[in-house]
Amino acid sequence: VASPLIAPSILSADFAKLGEEIAAVAHPGPTRADWVHVDVMDAHFVPNLTLGLPVVQSLLKSTDVPIDCHLMIDDPDRWAIGYAEAGAYNVTVHVEAAADPVMLAKNLRAAGAKAGLSVKPGTPLEPHLETLKHYDTLLVMSVEPGFGGQSFIADVLEKVRTARRLADTGHLKLIVEIDGGINSDTIEQAAEAGVDCFVAGSAVYGAEDPGRAVAALREQAAR
Ligand code: DX5
Ligand code: ZN
Repeated sequence: VASPLIAPSILSADFAKLGEEIAAVAHPGPTRADWVHVDVMDAHFVPNLTLGLPVVQSLLKSTDVPIDCHLMIDDPDRWAIGYAEAGAYNVTVHVEAAADPVMLAKNLRAAGAKAGLSVKPGTPLEPHLETLKHYDTLLVMSVEPGFGGQSFIADVLEKVRTARRLADTGHLKLIVEIDGGINSDTIEQAAEAGVDCFVAGSAVYGAEDPGRAVAALREQAAR
């Protein structure tokens, strides 16, 4: 089994100094983030507003840590491609928002990014398994999207187990990512269910030392 990936979410960072906040988890070694998770919210798909493409373009210039864009927006069919073209490592769209998710995945990959598909806690996986074959990553939401600092919804681990099974038996080739409420109390059950990549906002940027929090979470997930 590959080493678990840790993706700090800058939603819980200080937006006045995003460059420094990313640099705090970018030093080589165990405190380095594998990906930096950027939550794009449009106040339509979710009831909150964060940042968009111009900010992501600047972040991409300021760091060499792969950027993981989580688009919580309406009409990703139109907007997602810009993030891939800008150089994001992985671009995740919501299956609840995408009109043609298969075409969207093809476009993201053609622009050089990994294609990610996300499901809200109440969205079942089964109707989307054929669609998932076109994707590189599956982001299972373990809180309702929109805000950091919410409590982990353990029920979604059933979807993680399903995806893990399909990946392990060769039916899908997927990096399974989980997002929401991941901290030292919840990461082990998520790891056990088969998560590859752990997004953590408040558990990293609410910590005194974000880099040390990254290292501690990775170590815990690898147990
Ligand atoms: C929520 C975002 C998450 C958020 C997670 O809609 O998608 O990425 O930053 O925050 P925590 O880890 O605090 O639950
Ligand atoms: Zn997110």
